[in-house]
Amino acid sequence: MRYIFANWKMYLNYSETGELANKLVDLEISDDIEVGVFPNSLAFSNVLELVGKNISLGAQNVSWTPQGAYTGAVSAWFFKEVGAKYALIGHSERRYIFGETDQDIKKKIEACFDSGLIPVLCIGDTAEDKENGKSEYRIKKQLMKAFEGLGVGQNQMIIAYEPVWAISKAGQGEDCGSDQAKIMHDFISQELKNYTDLEFPIIYGGSVKSENVESYLREDSISGVLVGNASTKFESFSEIVEITNKIVK
Ligand code: PGA
Repeated sequence: MRYIFANWKMYLNYSETGELANKLVDLEISDDIEVGVFPNSLAFSNVLELVGKNISLGAQNVSWTPQGAYTGAVSAWFFKEVGAKYALIGHSERRYIFGETDQDIKKKIEACFDSGLIPVLCIGDTAEDKENGKSEYRIKKQLMKAFEGLGVGQNQMIIAYEPVWAISKAGQGEDCGSDQAKIMHDFISQELKNYTDLEFPIIYGGSVKSENVESYLREDSISGVLVGNASTKFESFSEIVEITNKIVK
């Protein structure tokens, strides 16, 4: 199975989101590919209604408390109730812009397990980590903080390796070649063995586009891609799916 996940972030407004979803309805998707879309929470139900037959939906973020006096929060349970399958947890924009901590991230993973969502745990080294030769250290630590004391049991989970320096801002990110991504993916799968016997898919994210998606997907240790900017335009996203269709054939 290959995962093609579209993280629409807050790039699109409500009507643009609907327009893009409308175009995705006719997308041809091979049975060996799972396409997942992570729209803005407000547009979630609308997108699900439009594309839910052949595309899975996920939350960009969840809060860990099921219900109660938590102003502004949207729980994992709420997303599950309206039809979400996945949730992005610990995306670098949540960590570094909104100050999400490792403890928050662990609680959110637990909330996904308890509510029945599949967490997509995002981890990644910063530019500073890379400069200081601390990329593996950062990954090791993020995994440790997420997994230590976590009862994984038989729960499903996906790991997304997203080097922060490769994530695009307004379409621009430094390129993390597939060779470099592969090294980190291999490192992550080794590290995961410390915490579980299950084999979780590890997907890559960071400036993935139609021009480079094939190079990532040709690596055995890269089970899919998490696409931000390029997933918000129908032409580039449909090209990514088409290329993946050919790869899995
Ligand atoms: P990008 O974003 O494809 O725009 O670099 C990826 C992500 O942040 O998930």
